[in-house]
Amino acid sequence: MSENLEKYLTSVAEAVGQSTLVKMTLSKPVQKHDDLRNVYVKPVLIKDRRLFAFTYHYERRDEVKNYDAEQMLEVLREMLPQRFLNAVLFTVNEDVTLLVSSKGKATIQTKKVQECREQNLEHDKQKNRLINPANPWWYQLGLTTREGKITADMQHKFKQICKYAEIVESLVKPMRFDGTVHIADMGAGKGYLTFALHELLTQKLHFEVDIKGVEIRPDLVLKINEIIQADGLKGLEFVESSIEAYHPAQLDVLIALHACNTATDDAIASGIKAGAQLIVCAPCCHKQIRQEMERSGLVDAITRYGIFLERQAVMITDTIRALILEYYGYKTQVMEFIEMEHTPKNVLLVGKKSDKPVDRDSILQQISQLKKQYGIKIHYLETVLKVGE
Ligand SMILES: C[S@@+](CC[C@H](N)C(=O)[O-])C[C@H]1O[C@@H](n2cnc3c(N)ncnc32)[C@H](O)[C@@H]1O
Repeated sequence: MSENLEKYLTSVAEAVGQSTLVKMTLSKPVQKHDDLRNVYVKPVLIKDRRLFAFTYHYERRDEVKNYDAEQMLEVLREMLPQRFLNAVLFTVNEDVTLLVSSKGKATIQTKKVQECREQNLEHDKQKNRLINPANPWWYQLGLTTREGKITADMQHKFKQICKYAEIVESLVKPMRFDGTVHIADMGAGKGYLTFALHELLTQKLHFEVDIKGVEIRPDLVLKINEIIQADGLKGLEFVESSIEAYHPAQLDVLIALHACNTATDDAIASGIKAGAQLIVCAPCCHKQIRQEMERSGLVDAITRYGIFLERQAVMITDTIRALILEYYGYKTQVMEFIEMEHTPKNVLLVGKKSDKPVDRDSILQQISQLKKQYGIKIHYLETVLKVGE
């Protein structure tokens, strides 16, 4: 081992011994084919034992391992520089960076910090998460072990669920509802996001809710309702129905996440007709408009490339959806959602009912202009709602 590397590990050992280590990061992985991207180290106090939590950030999951001081130094010795070429040690008063060149030359840079930092020994598990994986439904839905630990292959899904809860919290918190909040989650699927919604609204925001998960597959509806009953969850029920056929009498919030093709339009139409205050949808597979564009035979500099035609179809479908929401008085935002697997289904259309006057003629003109430009005869949502008639 080079002299500088040894010197660096001595600095780490001193920071550990003097309890001045705030955190450490290991980056610049040596093996490009390995999907371990970086490692984050922080001291934690678990059952009065001072340990070091190593969070291994893989491309699509995180893994946390706790080590005592001796093991921690051993692990660092194994990883530097064999696995990582860069490391930064953050102590209460300085940052010590290790840089190893591709030829193996190690250099150390030390930078004093102006403000004295403090150690935070709080264990990550104590973080006030919006979604608690220890709730029994997460095990029953297949996301966690019986002990409430998120399984390795569900880490990404759980991140998506938490991100979704964060977005919904920010949307719903400032809103005022009169009594029970009526919500329909159209195309609810396996129920992950529906349970997250229920957990967020009832356990964190303390709302009274009536959430219906609308799903066409009877096996899923049966299974999910059994879980709901087993856990005694109030205000949550799955309904076996197509989105088209489901017409709620009362609706405050309409959710439709990844409902295929025009099912998203049926859901939006249902929300608009029921006068929902909030409409949130993550559209999925924009076949209807793509086929219209292909049929028209019109090609421009963008759409002559297959992939761009696909992407343009997505943009046009969702732009017209956003315009139609605006037409019906919804202040509409297009937001980024957390990415789904490797598909581009990461857009969230959010419409909030507003009292502000709307220039409907101008909106109709914009829709008409877009349709003309891309040779689109029909946008399904426009037809269902008979927009402008
Ligand atoms: C891709 S999954 C999305 C599930 C969930 N919303 C999510 O984002 O994780 C779409 C679900 O919608 C259901 N679905 C598709 N078309 C539907 C329709 N017309 N009516 C009711 N459910 C539908 C499918 O059976 C499927 O379970």
